[in-house]
Amino acid sequence: MQAMQKYSLLFFLLLLSPALSDLQCVENDKTALLKIKNSFGNPPELFSWTQTSDCCTEWAGVSCDLALGQVLSLNISNTKNISGPIPDSIGDLPILSYITLHNLPYLTGPLPPSLTNLSLLNRLTITYTALSGPLPSFITTFTQLSEFNLSHNKISGNLPVFPGDNTYFSIDLSHNYLSGVIPSSLFLGVLTNPILDISFNMLTGMIPSSLGKINFSWLNMAHNQLKGDASFLFGASKWAQLIDLSWNELDFNMSSLTFSPDYLQSLDLSHNEIKGSINKQITKAKKLKDLDLSYNQLCGRIPIGGPMKKFKASSYAHNLCLCGRPLPPCTR
Ligand SMILES: *[C@@H]1O[C@H](CO)[C@@H](O)[C@H](O)[C@H]1NC(C)=O
Ligand SMILES: *[C@@H]1O[C@H](CO)[C@@H](O)[C@H](O)[C@H]1NC(C)=O
Ligand SMILES: *[C@@H]1O[C@H](CO)[C@@H](O)[C@H](O)[C@H]1NC(C)=O
Ligand SMILES: *[C@@H]1O[C@H](CO)[C@@H](O)[C@H](O)[C@H]1NC(C)=O
Ligand SMILES: *[C@@H]1O[C@H](CO)[C@@H](O)[C@H](O)[C@H]1NC(C)=O
Ligand SMILES: *[C@@H]1O[C@H](CO)[C@@H](O)[C@H](O)[C@H]1NC(C)=O
Repeated sequence: MQAMQKYSLLFFLLLLSPALSDLQCVENDKTALLKIKNSFGNPPELFSWTQTSDCCTEWAGVSCDLALGQVLSLNISNTKNISGPIPDSIGDLPILSYITLHNLPYLTGPLPPSLTNLSLLNRLTITYTALSGPLPSFITTFTQLSEFNLSHNKISGNLPVFPGDNTYFSIDLSHNYLSGVIPSSLFLGVLTNPILDISFNMLTGMIPSSLGKINFSWLNMAHNQLKGDASFLFGASKWAQLIDLSWNELDFNMSSLTFSPDYLQSLDLSHNEIKGSINKQITKAKKLKDLDLSYNQLCGRIPIGGPMKKFKASSYAHNLCLCGRPLPPCTR
Protein backbone atom coordinates (compact mmCIF):
# COMPACT_ATOMS: atom_id res chain seq x y z
CA MET A 1 0.00 0.00 0.00
CA GLN A 2 2.80 2.39 1.03
CA ALA A 3 4.69 1.54 -2.17
CA MET A 4 1.59 2.10 -4.24
CA GLN A 5 1.21 5.56 -2.79
CA LYS A 6 4.84 6.39 -3.47
CA TYR A 7 4.45 5.24 -7.06
CA SER A 8 1.36 7.27 -7.66
CA LEU A 9 2.98 10.31 -6.12
CA LEU A 10 5.99 9.92 -8.43
CA PHE A 11 3.66 9.45 -11.39
CA PHE A 12 1.75 12.55 -10.38
CA LEU A 13 4.95 14.61 -10.14
CA LEU A 14 6.07 13.38 -13.56
CA LEU A 15 2.74 14.42 -15.01
CA LEU A 16 3.04 17.80 -13.33
CA SER A 17 6.59 18.66 -14.32
CA PRO A 18 5.94 19.77 -17.91
CA ALA A 19 3.11 21.92 -16.55
CA LEU A 20 5.47 23.46 -14.00
CA SER A 21 7.91 24.50 -16.69
CA ASP A 22 5.02 26.08 -18.62
CA LEU A 23 4.67 28.50 -15.72
CA GLN A 24 8.01 30.06 -16.66
CA CYS A 25 7.81 33.51 -18.07
CA VAL A 26 7.47 33.57 -21.84
CA GLU A 27 10.52 34.58 -23.89
CA ASN A 28 8.80 37.63 -25.42
CA ASP A 29 8.05 39.22 -22.05
CA LYS A 30 11.46 38.38 -20.61
CA THR A 31 13.15 40.02 -23.61
CA ALA A 32 11.01 43.16 -23.24
CA LEU A 33 11.82 43.45 -19.53
CA LEU A 34 15.55 42.96 -20.15
CA LYS A 35 15.37 45.77 -22.71
CA ILE A 36 13.68 47.97 -20.10
CA LYS A 37 16.43 47.15 -17.59
CA ASN A 38 19.05 48.00 -20.19
CA SER A 39 17.38 51.32 -21.16
CA PHE A 40 17.30 52.24 -17.48
CA GLY A 41 21.10 51.69 -17.36
CA ASN A 42 21.01 48.32 -15.52
CA PRO A 43 20.30 49.85 -12.09
CA PRO A 44 21.28 47.74 -9.04
CA GLU A 45 17.61 47.59 -7.94
CA LEU A 46 16.93 45.32 -10.95
CA PHE A 47 19.79 42.92 -10.23
CA SER A 48 17.32 40.04 -9.94
CA TRP A 49 16.32 40.53 -13.59
CA THR A 50 18.72 38.07 -15.26
CA GLN A 51 18.66 35.99 -18.43
CA THR A 52 18.84 32.74 -16.44
CA SER A 53 16.02 33.33 -13.91
CA ASP A 54 12.24 33.19 -14.25
CA CYS A 55 10.83 36.66 -14.66
CA CYS A 56 7.43 35.60 -13.27
CA THR A 57 8.64 34.30 -9.94
CA GLU A 58 12.13 35.61 -9.33
CA TRP A 59 12.20 39.22 -10.54
CA ALA A 60 11.65 42.13 -8.18
CA GLY A 61 8.58 44.20 -9.03
CA VAL A 62 7.26 41.78 -11.66
CA SER A 63 4.20 39.57 -11.35
CA CYS A 64 2.51 37.42 -13.93
CA ASP A 65 -0.60 35.64 -14.96
CA LEU A 66 0.94 32.31 -13.99
CA ALA A 67 -1.24 30.27 -16.33
CA LEU A 68 -0.01 32.29 -19.30
CA GLY A 69 3.50 33.06 -18.06
CA GLN A 70 2.97 36.66 -19.15
CA VAL A 71 3.63 39.83 -17.20
CA LEU A 72 0.52 41.30 -15.59
CA SER A 73 2.02 43.96 -13.37
CA LEU A 74 5.19 45.97 -13.14
CA ASN A 75 6.27 48.05 -10.15
CA ILE A 76 9.52 49.97 -10.07
CA SER A 77 9.64 52.36 -7.14
CA ASN A 78 11.79 54.39 -4.80
CA THR A 79 15.18 54.82 -6.40
CA LYS A 80 17.36 57.60 -7.68
CA ASN A 81 19.37 55.15 -9.79
CA ILE A 82 16.86 55.03 -12.62
CA SER A 83 17.19 57.82 -15.13
CA GLY A 84 15.92 58.64 -18.59
CA PRO A 85 12.55 58.14 -20.25
CA ILE A 86 10.13 55.22 -19.92
CA PRO A 87 11.49 52.71 -22.44
CA ASP A 88 9.44 51.94 -25.57
CA SER A 89 9.72 48.24 -24.88
CA ILE A 90 7.08 48.61 -22.14
CA GLY A 91 4.63 48.31 -25.06
CA ASP A 92 5.93 44.80 -25.77
CA LEU A 93 4.24 43.25 -22.73
CA PRO A 94 0.90 42.23 -24.27
CA ILE A 95 -1.18 41.65 -21.14
CA LEU A 96 0.45 44.23 -18.87
CA SER A 97 -2.45 45.67 -16.83
CA TYR A 98 -0.94 47.39 -13.78
CA ILE A 99 1.96 49.82 -13.97
CA THR A 100 3.49 51.52 -10.93
CA LEU A 101 6.45 53.84 -11.40
CA HIS A 102 6.69 55.71 -8.12
CA ASN A 103 9.25 58.01 -6.56
CA LEU A 104 11.77 57.91 -9.41
CA PRO A 105 13.04 61.51 -9.41
CA TYR A 106 15.21 61.02 -12.49
CA LEU A 107 12.57 59.37 -14.66
CA THR A 108 12.08 61.94 -17.43
CA GLY A 109 10.46 62.53 -20.80
CA PRO A 110 6.92 62.13 -22.06
CA LEU A 111 4.78 58.98 -21.97
CA PRO A 112 6.00 56.65 -24.75
CA PRO A 113 3.56 56.08 -27.67
CA SER A 114 4.11 52.32 -27.31
CA LEU A 115 1.82 52.46 -24.26
CA THR A 116 -1.10 52.39 -26.72
CA ASN A 117 -0.20 48.73 -27.28
CA LEU A 118 -1.32 47.92 -23.78
CA SER A 119 -4.98 47.32 -24.51
CA LEU A 120 -5.61 45.70 -21.12
CA LEU A 121 -4.12 48.55 -19.09
CA ASN A 122 -6.22 48.90 -15.95
CA ARG A 123 -4.11 50.96 -13.56
CA LEU A 124 -1.47 53.47 -14.60
CA THR A 125 0.36 55.05 -11.66
CA ILE A 126 3.34 57.24 -12.44
CA THR A 127 3.89 59.46 -9.41
CA TYR A 128 6.72 61.55 -7.96
CA THR A 129 8.85 61.43 -11.12
CA ALA A 130 10.16 64.06 -13.55
CA LEU A 131 7.81 62.87 -16.31
CA SER A 132 7.17 65.92 -18.49
CA GLY A 133 5.56 67.21 -21.66
CA PRO A 134 1.88 67.41 -22.51
CA LEU A 135 -0.41 64.42 -22.06
CA PRO A 136 -0.50 62.61 -25.40
CA SER A 137 -3.93 62.25 -27.00
CA PHE A 138 -3.69 58.45 -26.86
CA ILE A 139 -4.06 58.66 -23.10
CA THR A 140 -7.84 58.59 -23.49
CA THR A 141 -7.94 55.55 -25.80
CA PHE A 142 -7.52 52.87 -23.15
CA THR A 143 -10.81 51.03 -22.77
CA GLN A 144 -10.01 49.15 -19.55
CA LEU A 145 -8.30 51.93 -17.60
CA SER A 146 -9.92 52.53 -14.24
CA GLU A 147 -7.19 54.22 -12.20
CA PHE A 148 -5.14 56.92 -13.83
CA ASN A 149 -2.70 58.51 -11.38
CA LEU A 150 -0.06 60.82 -12.81
CA SER A 151 0.22 63.09 -9.78
CA HIS A 152 3.42 64.81 -8.66
CA ASN A 153 5.18 65.02 -12.02
CA LYS A 154 6.10 67.84 -14.40
CA ILE A 155 3.31 67.39 -16.92
CA SER A 156 2.36 70.54 -18.82
CA GLY A 157 -0.20 71.47 -21.47
CA ASN A 158 -3.97 71.11 -21.28
CA LEU A 159 -6.28 68.63 -19.64
CA PRO A 160 -7.45 65.92 -22.04
CA VAL A 161 -11.08 65.04 -22.73
CA PHE A 162 -11.85 61.68 -21.17
CA PRO A 163 -14.26 59.73 -23.37
CA GLY A 164 -17.45 58.30 -21.92
CA ASP A 165 -17.22 54.77 -23.24
CA ASN A 166 -14.51 53.70 -20.84
CA THR A 167 -14.27 52.87 -17.21
CA TYR A 168 -12.22 55.72 -15.72
CA PHE A 169 -13.02 55.66 -12.07
CA SER A 170 -10.18 57.64 -10.56
CA ILE A 171 -8.21 60.41 -12.22
CA ASP A 172 -5.40 62.10 -10.32
CA LEU A 173 -3.39 64.69 -12.21
CA SER A 174 -2.60 66.82 -9.18
CA HIS A 175 0.74 68.55 -8.59
CA ASN A 176 1.72 69.12 -12.22
CA TYR A 177 1.98 72.15 -14.52
CA LEU A 178 -1.31 71.74 -16.37
CA SER A 179 -2.69 74.99 -17.75
CA GLY A 180 -5.58 76.37 -19.79
CA VAL A 181 -9.27 75.88 -19.11
CA ILE A 182 -11.05 72.72 -17.98
CA PRO A 183 -12.70 71.35 -21.15
CA SER A 184 -16.48 71.67 -21.01
CA SER A 185 -16.61 68.00 -21.90
CA LEU A 186 -13.92 66.79 -19.50
CA PHE A 187 -15.94 63.59 -19.35
CA LEU A 188 -18.12 62.53 -22.24
CA GLY A 189 -20.88 60.19 -21.18
CA VAL A 190 -21.73 58.72 -17.84
CA LEU A 191 -19.29 57.97 -15.04
CA THR A 192 -20.52 56.61 -11.74
CA ASN A 193 -19.12 58.44 -8.70
CA PRO A 194 -15.63 59.15 -10.09
CA ILE A 195 -12.67 60.55 -8.19
CA LEU A 196 -11.11 63.65 -9.74
CA ASP A 197 -8.04 65.40 -8.40
CA ILE A 198 -6.61 68.21 -10.52
CA SER A 199 -5.32 70.27 -7.60
CA PHE A 200 -2.00 72.13 -7.61
CA ASN A 201 -1.87 73.00 -11.32
CA MET A 202 -2.20 76.27 -13.24
CA LEU A 203 -5.74 75.84 -14.57
CA THR A 204 -7.65 79.01 -15.42
CA GLY A 205 -11.14 80.14 -16.43
CA MET A 206 -14.55 78.99 -15.28
CA ILE A 207 -15.38 75.50 -14.05
CA PRO A 208 -17.66 74.10 -16.78
CA SER A 209 -21.23 73.73 -15.52
CA SER A 210 -21.41 70.31 -17.22
CA LEU A 211 -19.39 69.00 -14.26
CA GLY A 212 -22.46 69.70 -12.13
CA LYS A 213 -24.09 66.61 -13.68
CA ILE A 214 -21.32 64.38 -12.39
CA ASN A 215 -21.80 62.78 -9.01
CA PHE A 216 -18.20 62.76 -7.82
CA SER A 217 -17.15 60.69 -4.84
CA TRP A 218 -14.08 62.91 -4.40
CA LEU A 219 -13.40 66.27 -6.02
CA ASN A 220 -10.24 68.29 -5.55
CA MET A 221 -9.58 71.38 -7.68
CA ALA A 222 -7.60 73.33 -5.07
CA HIS A 223 -4.64 75.58 -5.85
CA ASN A 224 -5.48 76.66 -9.40
CA GLN A 225 -6.73 79.97 -10.78
CA LEU A 226 -10.36 79.01 -11.36
CA LYS A 227 -12.93 81.81 -11.47
CA GLY A 228 -16.68 82.35 -11.25
CA ASP A 229 -19.37 79.95 -10.15
CA ALA A 230 -19.02 76.50 -8.58
CA SER A 231 -22.42 76.26 -6.85
CA PHE A 232 -23.59 73.64 -9.38
CA LEU A 233 -21.08 71.15 -7.93
CA PHE A 234 -23.02 70.93 -4.66
CA GLY A 235 -26.28 69.34 -3.56
CA ALA A 236 -27.73 67.27 -0.73
CA SER A 237 -28.08 64.23 -3.00
CA LYS A 238 -24.47 64.25 -4.19
CA TRP A 239 -22.09 61.62 -2.91
CA ALA A 240 -18.83 63.51 -2.50
CA GLN A 241 -16.84 62.71 0.62
CA LEU A 242 -14.44 65.51 -0.10
CA ILE A 243 -14.85 68.79 -1.95
CA ASP A 244 -11.77 71.01 -2.00
CA LEU A 245 -11.91 74.15 -4.12
CA SER A 246 -9.56 76.19 -1.96
CA TRP A 247 -6.98 78.68 -3.24
CA ASN A 248 -8.78 79.72 -6.43
CA GLU A 249 -10.61 82.89 -7.47
CA LEU A 250 -14.17 81.58 -7.21
CA ASP A 251 -16.79 84.24 -6.48
CA PHE A 252 -20.26 82.73 -6.24
CA ASN A 253 -22.95 83.23 -3.58
CA MET A 254 -23.05 80.19 -1.28
CA SER A 255 -26.30 81.07 0.56
CA SER A 256 -28.35 78.37 -1.18
CA LEU A 257 -25.75 75.57 -1.25
CA THR A 258 -26.80 72.26 0.28
CA PHE A 259 -24.55 69.43 1.42
CA SER A 260 -24.78 65.64 1.58
CA PRO A 261 -26.14 64.53 4.96
CA ASP A 262 -24.52 61.10 4.71
CA TYR A 263 -21.32 61.45 2.72
CA LEU A 264 -19.63 64.84 3.00
CA GLN A 265 -16.66 64.60 5.36
CA SER A 266 -14.37 67.37 4.22
CA LEU A 267 -15.21 70.76 2.73
CA ASP A 268 -12.55 73.35 1.94
CA LEU A 269 -13.60 76.53 0.13
CA SER A 270 -10.97 78.74 1.76
CA HIS A 271 -9.02 81.45 -0.07
CA ASN A 272 -11.61 82.42 -2.67
CA GLU A 273 -14.02 85.34 -3.04
CA ILE A 274 -17.18 83.48 -2.06
CA LYS A 275 -20.06 85.63 -0.78
CA GLY A 276 -23.43 85.17 0.87
CA SER A 277 -24.04 83.24 4.07
CA ILE A 278 -23.76 79.66 5.34
CA ASN A 279 -26.96 77.72 4.73
CA LYS A 280 -28.47 76.20 7.87
CA GLN A 281 -28.77 72.91 5.96
CA ILE A 282 -25.04 72.37 6.62
CA THR A 283 -25.98 71.24 10.14
CA LYS A 284 -27.50 68.10 8.53
CA ALA A 285 -24.08 67.05 7.16
CA LYS A 286 -23.50 64.73 10.08
CA LYS A 287 -20.27 63.18 8.74
CA LEU A 288 -18.56 66.54 8.27
CA LYS A 289 -15.28 66.59 10.17
CA ASP A 290 -13.14 69.13 8.28
CA LEU A 291 -14.46 72.54 7.34
CA ASP A 292 -12.52 75.53 6.08
CA LEU A 293 -14.37 78.61 4.81
CA SER A 294 -11.68 81.10 5.79
CA TYR A 295 -10.49 83.96 3.56
CA ASN A 296 -13.73 84.63 1.68
CA GLN A 297 -16.42 87.35 1.66
CA LEU A 298 -19.00 85.50 3.76
CA CYS A 299 -21.43 87.24 6.09
CA GLY A 300 -24.17 86.39 8.58
CA ARG A 301 -24.80 83.98 11.44
CA ILE A 302 -22.86 80.70 11.59
CA PRO A 303 -25.46 77.91 11.89
CA ILE A 304 -25.51 75.92 15.13
CA GLY A 305 -26.09 72.18 15.48
CA GLY A 306 -24.95 68.86 14.02
CA PRO A 307 -21.27 68.82 13.19
CA MET A 308 -20.84 72.58 13.63
CA LYS A 309 -19.68 72.40 17.25
CA LYS A 310 -16.43 70.73 16.11
CA PHE A 311 -15.15 73.70 14.17
CA LYS A 312 -12.96 76.44 15.57
CA ALA A 313 -12.75 80.11 14.70
CA SER A 314 -9.97 79.40 12.21
CA SER A 315 -12.53 77.65 9.93
CA TYR A 316 -14.22 81.04 9.47
CA ALA A 317 -11.34 83.51 9.77
CA HIS A 318 -10.94 86.47 7.44
CA ASN A 319 -14.46 86.81 6.10
CA LEU A 320 -16.60 89.91 5.67
CA CYS A 321 -19.03 89.69 8.60
CA LEU A 322 -19.60 86.15 9.86
CA CYS A 323 -20.75 86.04 13.47
CA GLY A 324 -21.93 83.71 16.23
CA ARG A 325 -20.20 80.76 17.82
CA PRO A 326 -17.21 80.16 17.57
CA LEU A 327 -16.83 83.80 16.45
CA PRO A 328 -18.06 86.72 18.57
CA PRO A 329 -21.86 87.02 18.91
CA CYS A 330 -23.91 88.67 16.18
CA THR A 331 -24.79 92.25 17.02
CA ARG A 332 -28.24 92.28 15.47
C1 LIG B 1 5.65 48.82 -5.28
O1 LIG B 1 6.86 48.40 -4.68
C2 LIG B 1 7.19 49.08 -3.46
C3 LIG B 1 8.51 48.57 -2.98
O2 LIG B 1 9.50 48.85 -3.91
C4 LIG B 1 6.10 48.82 -2.44
O3 LIG B 1 6.38 49.55 -1.28
C5 LIG B 1 4.75 49.26 -3.00
O4 LIG B 1 3.72 48.91 -2.10
C6 LIG B 1 4.48 48.58 -4.34
N1 LIG B 1 3.25 49.14 -4.92
C7 LIG B 1 2.34 48.41 -5.56
C8 LIG B 1 1.16 49.14 -6.10
O5 LIG B 1 2.45 47.22 -5.70
C1 LIG C 1 21.95 53.44 -6.16
O1 LIG C 1 21.38 54.27 -5.15
C2 LIG C 1 22.00 54.18 -3.89
C3 LIG C 1 21.23 55.07 -2.94
O2 LIG C 1 19.92 55.31 -3.36
C4 LIG C 1 23.46 54.57 -3.99
O3 LIG C 1 24.09 54.37 -2.73
C5 LIG C 1 24.16 53.72 -5.05
O4 LIG C 1 25.46 54.17 -5.22
C6 LIG C 1 23.42 53.79 -6.37
N1 LIG C 1 24.05 52.90 -7.32
C7 LIG C 1 24.35 53.25 -8.57
C8 LIG C 1 24.95 52.21 -9.41
O5 LIG C 1 24.10 54.37 -9.00
C1 LIG D 1 3.21 47.33 -30.41
O1 LIG D 1 2.35 46.63 -31.25
C2 LIG D 1 2.76 46.58 -32.60
C3 LIG D 1 1.70 45.88 -33.42
O2 LIG D 1 0.73 45.31 -32.63
C4 LIG D 1 4.11 45.86 -32.71
O3 LIG D 1 4.56 45.88 -34.02
C5 LIG D 1 5.10 46.57 -31.82
O4 LIG D 1 6.34 45.87 -31.82
C6 LIG D 1 4.58 46.64 -30.40
N1 LIG D 1 5.51 47.21 -29.51
C7 LIG D 1 5.89 48.49 -29.41
C8 LIG D 1 6.92 48.79 -28.40
O5 LIG D 1 5.40 49.37 -30.10
C1 LIG E 1 -2.04 58.87 -6.49
O1 LIG E 1 -0.76 58.46 -6.02
C2 LIG E 1 -0.29 59.18 -4.90
C3 LIG E 1 1.14 58.74 -4.61
O2 LIG E 1 1.21 57.36 -4.49
C4 LIG E 1 -1.25 58.92 -3.74
O3 LIG E 1 -0.83 59.64 -2.60
C5 LIG E 1 -2.65 59.37 -4.13
O4 LIG E 1 -3.57 59.05 -3.11
C6 LIG E 1 -3.10 58.66 -5.41
N1 LIG E 1 -4.36 59.23 -5.86
C7 LIG E 1 -5.51 58.58 -5.88
C8 LIG E 1 -6.71 59.31 -6.35
O5 LIG E 1 -5.60 57.40 -5.53
C1 LIG F 1 -25.19 60.04 -6.64
O1 LIG F 1 -24.81 58.68 -6.72
C2 LIG F 1 -25.48 57.84 -5.80
C3 LIG F 1 -24.95 56.42 -5.97
O2 LIG F 1 -24.51 56.15 -7.24
C4 LIG F 1 -26.99 57.93 -5.98
O3 LIG F 1 -27.63 57.17 -4.98
C5 LIG F 1 -27.44 59.39 -5.91
O4 LIG F 1 -28.81 59.49 -6.16
C6 LIG F 1 -26.67 60.21 -6.91
N1 LIG F 1 -27.06 61.59 -6.83
C7 LIG F 1 -27.22 62.38 -7.88
C8 LIG F 1 -27.55 63.81 -7.64
O5 LIG F 1 -27.11 61.95 -9.03
C1 LIG G 1 -26.85 85.74 -1.77
O1 LIG G 1 -28.08 85.14 -2.13
C2 LIG G 1 -29.16 85.41 -1.19
C3 LIG G 1 -30.38 84.67 -1.66
O2 LIG G 1 -30.11 83.34 -1.86
C4 LIG G 1 -29.40 86.90 -1.08
O3 LIG G 1 -30.37 87.12 -0.09
C5 LIG G 1 -28.10 87.61 -0.72
O4 LIG G 1 -28.31 88.99 -0.75
C6 LIG G 1 -26.99 87.24 -1.67
N1 LIG G 1 -25.76 87.83 -1.17
C7 LIG G 1 -24.91 88.52 -1.95
C8 LIG G 1 -23.70 89.07 -1.27
O5 LIG G 1 -25.07 88.67 -3.14
